[in-house]
Amino acid sequence: MGRQHSALVREARPSDTLASVLSPKGAARSVSPPVLETTRLVLRAFRASDLEDVFAYASDGEVARFVLWDKHATREDSRRFLEWVVGQYARGELPSWGIVDKLSGRVVGSIGYGSHEPAHARAEVGYVLARPFWGRGVMSEALRAVLGHAFGTLHLHKVYAHCHVQNVASRRVLEKAGLRHEGRLYEHLFVKGTFWDIDALGMVDREWKAAR
Ligand SMILES: CC(C)(COP(=O)(O)OP(=O)(O)OC[C@H]1O[C@@H](n2cnc3c(N)ncnc32)[C@H](O)[C@@H]1OP(=O)(O)O)[C@@H](O)C(=O)NCCC(=O)NCCS
Repeated sequence: MGRQHSALVREARPSDTLASVLSPKGAARSVSPPVLETTRLVLRAFRASDLEDVFAYASDGEVARFVLWDKHATREDSRRFLEWVVGQYARGELPSWGIVDKLSGRVVGSIGYGSHEPAHARAEVGYVLARPFWGRGVMSEALRAVLGHAFGTLHLHKVYAHCHVQNVASRRVLEKAGLRHEGRLYEHLFVKGTFWDIDALGMVDREWKAAR
């Protein structure tokens, strides 16, 4: 599992902006994600001790069906994921959060940024949730919090997401949060042995502000 945060990693402050998380020379500095709290959830930095919770959902083939990675076959896969995600914090990349269910205190999924193009003030979001929690509006709640971070804290111009055309639940989560369907990218990705058709959805900052 990933390492504990180094002393160099600090919590991001609400005042952090896209510009301020970059040094004057544009080099990223270490930023651990801020804690985001919603009614039912706490979104926080992943920790090495999250290994069992991550393995529980990431080893589920249904959870991994429409994501780019293979389901975790062993805890070593989950350990490598946590190492990668803590490395994200250390590298100062836009982060992924562990989604903690307040009732149980367990990590039940992850949500975070994928591709980030600072020149265009644009980032991609992605997420997964443990199957027992599907269909209760959990990811919609988490996504709204992350959109608040993306637009309200980082001042990104655009947030977008790509999902498999058959991933109806994911498209619905995105649309409920206010992202618009922008188009379909045919046979855009080669994943798990086949070419995937992809739905592209996005939202810009003025749309987020207008919907608040
Ligand atoms: C996609 C995922 C995150 C959704 O999380 P969730 O917490 O269940 O989502 P929500 O409950 O907020 O919303 C799901 C919506 O999809 C709808 N939905 C789910 N399955 C559906 C289906 N087969 N057909 C039509 N609608 C469906 C639900 O009814 C709900 O809409 P509603 O609120 O209007 O009723 C979850 O299913 C998951 O982790 N899937 C595996 C990983 C994944 O695919 N990640 C995304 C990769 S792009």
